[in-house]
Amino acid sequence: MALKTTDLTSNIGTLVETDTATLVSGAVSAEICALIQQRGVLVLRGCPMDDAQQLQFTRTLGPVLDEKSGEVYKVTYDPRESPDLWFYTPGNFFWHIDRTDSLVPPFLTMLNAKRLPDIGGDTEFANTYAAYEALPDSDKALIDRLKVVHKVEASFRFVPDLSDQQRAAFRAHEPKVHPLVWRHRDGRKSLITSTSGIEIVGMRQAESEALLQRMMDWATQPQFVYVHKWQLGDVVMWDNTGTMHKAQPYAKDSGRLLHRTTVIGDEPFDAGRELVA
Ligand code: SIN
Repeated sequence: MALKTTDLTSNIGTLVETDTATLVSGAVSAEICALIQQRGVLVLRGCPMDDAQQLQFTRTLGPVLDEKSGEVYKVTYDPRESPDLWFYTPGNFFWHIDRTDSLVPPFLTMLNAKRLPDIGGDTEFANTYAAYEALPDSDKALIDRLKVVHKVEASFRFVPDLSDQQRAAFRAHEPKVHPLVWRHRDGRKSLITSTSGIEIVGMRQAESEALLQRMMDWATQPQFVYVHKWQLGDVVMWDNTGTMHKAQPYAKDSGRLLHRTTVIGDEPFDAGRELVA
């Protein structure tokens, strides 16, 4: 079945026009998987889904991640909605790739807008394939073999007033080392830039910080970014292996609530390592 699509920017983001029943049936899931890898972000508007439908749709795209709070993760600041995980929410305000604390990150994540703030709370996405491709050759050569230490606690280093409970939870995640350039199995390359990336292995601190910041600034230029302005019921999904994302600020007590489901990935961050050994 051919999907009706409209690109939202030249480098990232496509609106898909369909309906809930079609999505949940799995009839367009192969097309959706192919499209999301080309376009980074897909927007579904006018396809309302309850949790059961969202899970059913997500399962047609791949195996669903069972997080600590279950298969539907509530992205919110409200401890009543997410007693165990709400305190991870401030990390969402900084550019990140999900689960850089793992070796094989999720493939695809889906957010479903349940409650929205009056002000703020849009979500920004950056295409890390397009950002890599547009780098000057001198930078591609410079970063080609670099490796970066990622720490969950580094993702929260700009968050003021962290509690001891938060600090302890973040430190409990093992650091991981990932290449700065992801060589994907299909031959494409993307940047692994994320606020969790704290240090380039073997480089002096000042030089390492400056280069990581320069790559982050490069990858998040407007030509690589799509900003999603939420409406209630919107479902937005992204390819976590080729994008970064972050939430724009919103009030802690706004009640903002997005239901998130995630498809487990099968491509390690260093998928192409053998190609360059
Ligand atoms: C996330 O980072 O997973 C959620 C982004 C958002 O809250 O907009």
